[in-house]
Amino acid sequence: METKTVKWGIIGAGKIATKFAQDLSTIPDAKLYAIASINLEKAKKFGMEFNADVAYGNYGQLASDPKVDAVYIATPHSFHKEHTILCLKHDIPVLCEKPLAMNLEEVEAMIRLSKEKNTLLMEAMWTIFLPHFKYALDLLEKKHFGELKKLEADFGFKPEYDETSRLFNKSIGGGSLLDIGIYPIFAALSSLGNPDNIKANAEFFPTGVDSECHMTFQYKNAVANLKSTLKEETKTEAIFYCENGIIQINGRFHEPSSVTLIDSEGNQTLKTFDYKTIGYSYEIEHFSQLIREGRTKSNIMTFEKSRELISTLDLVRKQIGLVYK
Ligand SMILES: NC(=O)c1ccc[n+]([C@@H]2O[C@H](COP(=O)([O-])OP(=O)(O)OC[C@H]3O[C@@H](n4cnc5c(N)ncnc54)[C@H](OP(=O)(O)O)[C@@H]3O)[C@@H](O)[C@H]2O)c1
Repeated sequence: METKTVKWGIIGAGKIATKFAQDLSTIPDAKLYAIASINLEKAKKFGMEFNADVAYGNYGQLASDPKVDAVYIATPHSFHKEHTILCLKHDIPVLCEKPLAMNLEEVEAMIRLSKEKNTLLMEAMWTIFLPHFKYALDLLEKKHFGELKKLEADFGFKPEYDETSRLFNKSIGGGSLLDIGIYPIFAALSSLGNPDNIKANAEFFPTGVDSECHMTFQYKNAVANLKSTLKEETKTEAIFYCENGIIQINGRFHEPSSVTLIDSEGNQTLKTFDYKTIGYSYEIEHFSQLIREGRTKSNIMTFEKSRELISTLDLVRKQIGLVYK
């Protein structure tokens, strides 16, 4: 039986859209059908580069195109709700970049509409689909080295300071926490669940967004020490300290990487994975398959996971006093 080719549209022709389109081009049963940018010339250039059928100079035109089977939203965080709602209103399944929105209230509104319209919505938390991350979580679940006692996870890089760029601009959701702190938090929620208590502190850029955020998640029998920073390059590892050994997702843990197992005697085993794409192909394949099967939600990156993630980000923001708008 022939497999239906899923025709994708992308909203926002920025950095991550380019990587996504690269990986999309490696998947046989999915293709880039349309790209929409605020700037038509930019859309046309992007469309030429990735062989799209259509290039639109505004997002609404893409959302109104009945040939689009799925939309990937690649705009800054503060637009995720608006652009998701635009597409869901046109009954188009939405894969929306992380964080799904700016706060829980926005996420709930998006989930409500997805349910009302019976139309698929999923947060593009690509890490959950990556084999090395699943491998580490699987070992933890099986208690390969006994109970997990401590997680240490970081994510840091140092972009050039530019007040107009997305990462530093408060009006479009800048800061380290929402952009990269979300990954160490996701590692903690995926391995230890919701914490009993959160302690967080942050430093800020002159624009008012957090330059660095330190978080301690306290659990009954474990602790997670998490960090995000836009001030330095860090190893970006997730190290799980268990009773009888260590499971270390090597840097950068959120993207295709390897896992080192260290037993109680210090013996190390390196597990590598045969990655052939940037890593977005895994979420694209999952989402395309959900569409072919007519599903209205993901069984992997569930609404519950998105709710937990944004609720935790909301709690951390409250502690560090970071208010958007
Ligand atoms: N999963 C991942 O690995 C990953 C990595 C990086 C980023 N992300 C997520 O992807 C989203 C976009 O990040 P990015 O790094 O691709 O950002 P970016 O390079 O700045 O691109 C964002 C695009 O959004 C559109 N846009 C619409 N209104 C805008 C405004 N007022 N200011 C700036 N851009 C606006 C622009 O596209 P047009 O001009 O074409 O309309 C712009 O090119 C963020 O939510 C981020 O969290 C995910």
